[in-house]
Amino acid sequence: MTDVAERLAELRRTGLHRRLRLIEGPQGPRVLLDGAEVLLLCSNNYLGLADHPRVRQAAAEAAERLGAGAGASRLISGSMALHRKLEGRLAEFKGSEAALLFGSGYLANTGTVAALAGRGDVILSDELNHASLIDGCRLSRAEIFVYRHRDLEHLEWGLHEAGGRARMIVTDGVFSMDGDVAPLGGLVELARRHRCLLVVDEAHGTGALGPGGRGAAAAAGLSGEVDVVVGTLGKALGGYGAYVCASAEIVDLLVNTARPFIYSTAPPPPSVGAALAALSLLADRPGLVEQLRRNAAILREALVARGLKIGGSRTQIVPVIVGDPRRATALSERTLEGGVFAQAIRPPTVPAGSSRLRLTVMANHRTDELRAAARVIGRAAHELGVAGGGAPEELRGLPRAA
Ligand SMILES: Cc1ncc(COP(=O)(O)O)c(C=O)c1O
Repeated sequence: MTDVAERLAELRRTGLHRRLRLIEGPQGPRVLLDGAEVLLLCSNNYLGLADHPRVRQAAAEAAERLGAGAGASRLISGSMALHRKLEGRLAEFKGSEAALLFGSGYLANTGTVAALAGRGDVILSDELNHASLIDGCRLSRAEIFVYRHRDLEHLEWGLHEAGGRARMIVTDGVFSMDGDVAPLGGLVELARRHRCLLVVDEAHGTGALGPGGRGAAAAAGLSGEVDVVVGTLGKALGGYGAYVCASAEIVDLLVNTARPFIYSTAPPPPSVGAALAALSLLADRPGLVEQLRRNAAILREALVARGLKIGGSRTQIVPVIVGDPRRATALSERTLEGGVFAQAIRPPTVPAGSSRLRLTVMANHRTDELRAAARVIGRAAHELGVAGGGAPEELRGLPRAA
């Protein structure tokens, strides 16, 4: 066997092999999967903006006017006015002095963390941070102190140990696989006290938390208090690309040293146009964010009422923790048979022993769809004996989920 074949066989043997599933249609609340209509409960298109008519039209107009591509890195072939306009809007939205666009959230995180810390520094990183933050830490060549999830005491101990070398604290704002929220007030205070930068990834907070969907920092009353906010345009904002919001000085440093900004083609005009439209929609329709919150609460309550374990989720990301990767995949398949597409998430995306279904709610899911999905998942979990899945309500005679 070749090394490639061996590695694939090992992934299959351990229940960690992944495959792509073909869907048809846009990322709406329902999609066609293998020809059958299913409820889509694993898309990050939280506000339904990916296929909103105004967003589609803005993308099409930008393509008509400016073309399909940006031609090169902005340092090479020039910065388009549309890029500047979006950066201005994002800075305003997040309450920062300046903003800088990147090709994707992955590139923004790796590029920013690696640009702002280096050999001899210490980066303090939450143990459940997204892979792109982890990779940024590794690329920086700094020493990495991984603190226990959301544990400010452990972080403080790490800061003391690092002495004057502590350069940066990095955290997801809303944790991508758990849907819980970073203790941002405590993080701001510790960062100030230890004179280091605080970098918060708002990939899942933007569009979901805070007034007008401004994010987890805004929800905590900390707009403008976080040194570096990273966010993606690819989730609640419905398109593709990403941004960093920070002081003009930090942005200038990133323009000069963040390798994914310097050495990669700038975001294409249709994506930039789409993001501008998405931001203006968010301003016009704050009700969308409210609807997302309501829907998330409906799903969380319905799952808990069925005896399912959802960890510390407080948001639109709701894990149903199973443990074993094969059982998580089996739960996903069984759930799909009931017409609900909910992806199984396994190591290395989550720690060993915490494989799960990662459910994500959208503002345009209907209440009855979400309750029916909880019923399908609860029944599948019960049949498979996983996730603390209690007996279906009809068997237990429990009242319906609120
Ligand atoms: C917390 C977090 N940060 C960053 C990213 C990367 O963003 P993008 O998809 O724009 O690369 C993701 C997911 O993809 C994420 O979940």
